[in-house]
Formats: sequence, structure tokens, C-alpha cells
Amino acid sequence: MTIRAVVTGVGHYLPERIVPNSEFEAGIDTSDEWIRSRSGIERRHFAAEGQATSDLATRAAEAALAQAGLAADDIDAIVLATSTADFTFPSAATMVQARLGMTRGFAYDVQAVCAGFVFALANANALIISGQARRVLVIGAETFSRLMDWTDRSTCVLFGDGAGALVLEGQEGTGEVTDRGILATDLHSDGRHRDILHVDGGVSTGRTGHLRMQGKEVFRHAVEKLTETAHAALAKLGLSGADVDWIVPHQANIRIIEGTAKRMQVPMSRVVVTVQDHGNTSAASIPLALSVGVARGQIKRGDLLVTEAIGGGLAWGSVVLRW
Ligand code: UT7
Repeated sequence: MTIRAVVTGVGHYLPERIVPNSEFEAGIDTSDEWIRSRSGIERRHFAAEGQATSDLATRAAEAALAQAGLAADDIDAIVLATSTADFTFPSAATMVQARLGMTRGFAYDVQAVCAGFVFALANANALIISGQARRVLVIGAETFSRLMDWTDRSTCVLFGDGAGALVLEGQEGTGEVTDRGILATDLHSDGRHRDILHVDGGVSTGRTGHLRMQGKEVFRHAVEKLTETAHAALAKLGLSGADVDWIVPHQANIRIIEGTAKRMQVPMSRVVVTVQDHGNTSAASIPLALSVGVARGQIKRGDLLVTEAIGGGLAWGSVVLRW
């Protein structure tokens, strides 16, 4: 008997405030045209003052639970991917647990920056197939606006805030690739590249710090590593890009998304793209894209999906799942 971690609910939350590219033109030397043409971003959402990552995560979790038809106490575990938890500790996941009124089970954060949701999905899958949990809420939630240096035009126009969540439930499968649920995972990191994408603050410095990125270097690693990891996860199943109904990529830059799809020989008509509306929401970008992809009628039950992401660390990976 094969146990599969099957998606039974998805939801998302975006803060109310929408910031178009033109809003940056007054404060820094940039233009809507530059931001659109170099990144594909047209607008992003920013959290309100006092609105923290756990607030966004709770709203997304509630939406996913409602779609699954479950109450918080039906959930065995919460795995929350974030690099912008409200506090150093406790975890944002335990704050969401309390906010949902969930008094059983366990909750913890996973931190792999923009690859966080892929790592969290792989982790939740392991909890389910090892029998440690039957129903897991997997959340990606971020308030990257809190990490921006508003004088650094090369980063502050790229990121946004948001949250997305999935309910995963253990169900019996056949062991074949026709099963619904998570079918393969592929994770990597290489800590030698920490300087090209990092935050220059944290516990050892006494301040939160700001995001610093060597964009061109990260870009170079991204297309190459994302293609490799997606191919590796598909190869574990004897599949290739031709078998995929949807690529649901991390949404950092339309040129990275297009470059990866091209190398995988998947047309852009089979790629879920939300970067124009959300900017780069780090660990929230894939669950946001999944939720929006379902709402748009793109992703349907039975579709074969590959998600892939790369971020600070560097950390990168992919997950193949049948919706
Ligand atoms: O999610 C984690 C992973 N992160 C990523 O995947 C991001 C990867 N990198 C990228 O998406 C792109 O490298 C960027 C969008 C960050 C930058 O695009 P680029 O084509 O690599 O541009 P660049 O950094 O080479 O900059 C080109 C020019 C520079 O001017 P000079 O040196 O050629 O005179 C920049 O100073 O564009 C300038 N520039 C800007 N101009 C107007 C940089 N930022 C801006 C800006 N507005 N906001």
C-alpha cells in the first residue's frame, strides 16, 4: 500500500494595499517601464502597519481549511515556510495554531527563503508518508516589505507580501504516477553562495537588517538550477517536461520563468504566472500561484504539476504532484 499526500484544500490571502510600479517613481530613480521589462512585475501588495506574517498566514490557512471542509482541530500539523516570522521566536506556525484555535497536534516553521514552500511541501509529505501526521496544513507566508532598503532601487521594487496555504491529507494510492498527491521531491542547498542573496541583520547583529542581492548572479544560478531540479524530480518518475500539465514556478522574474520553461520545453501556455500582480513574495509565491491557478480555472483535479523555486542560501528544489 502506498500513502500519498493529496491536496484537499487551497487558499490565499493578499493584503489590501496594492502598490503599482509608478508609486516608486517619486522616491527613487526608477520607472514602470524598467521594472516591467526587467522583471515582469506590474504591482505588488504590501501589508498594513501592524499586519504581520502570522496574520497573513492565518487568513490563507482559514481559506484552505474552508475549501477542504475541515476545522482546525482536524489538522495534525502545521508546517509554515517563512523568512519573515513576526518574532525571532516563537515560530509563526505556533502563532497561527493559536489563532486558528487548534489545541492539538504540532506546528513549526521551515526557513529556506524563496525555496521555503518547496522544502515545506517535501517536509509535510515526509510527515504523512511516515505516518507521523495524516492531515497537514502547509503554509507559505511573508512580509518581505519589512526587509526592504527603500533607497536600494535594485531590490525594493521586486518584492511583495502575501500568503498561500494547502491542506495535505494522507490517502491510499497505487504507487503509480497516475496517483493524486505528491509523487517526487528534489531538494538542494549550497551555503557557499550566501553572499549573493542575504539579509545583513539578525540575532548576531542586534537589528533586523535589509535584503541584499546581486541580481545578475542569482539570475544566472536560477535558470540553470531550476531546470536541473525540475528535470531531476520528473526523472525519478520516468517523466519529462512533455508530461507536465502545469509548471507552477517561484515567481521572482518573468525572464527566469520563461527561461526555465524554455529549457524544459514546456510552452508558456502551461505555466502559471502571477509575478505581474504579486511581485516576488518569497516562500508565499508558489502557494499563491497554486491558489490563483485553481481560481482562474487553469489547474484542475488530476493535472500533473511541477513546482520549482530557488532563493537565499542558496537553497533550491522542486516537487512533482498530481492535483
Ligand atoms: O527570489 C529569490 C531569487 N531572486 C531572483 O531570482 C532575482 C534574480 N535577479 C533578477 O531578477 C534580475 O537580475 C534583476 C531584476 C534583479 C535585475 O535585472 P538585470 O537585467 O540583471 O539588471 P542589472 O542588475 O544588470 O541592472 C541593469 C541596470 C543597472 O544599471 P547600469 O549599471 O547598467 O548603469 C542598474 O543600476 O539597471 C539598473 N537598475 C535599475 N534601473 C531602474 C537596477 N535597478 C533598477 C531600477 N530602476 N529599479
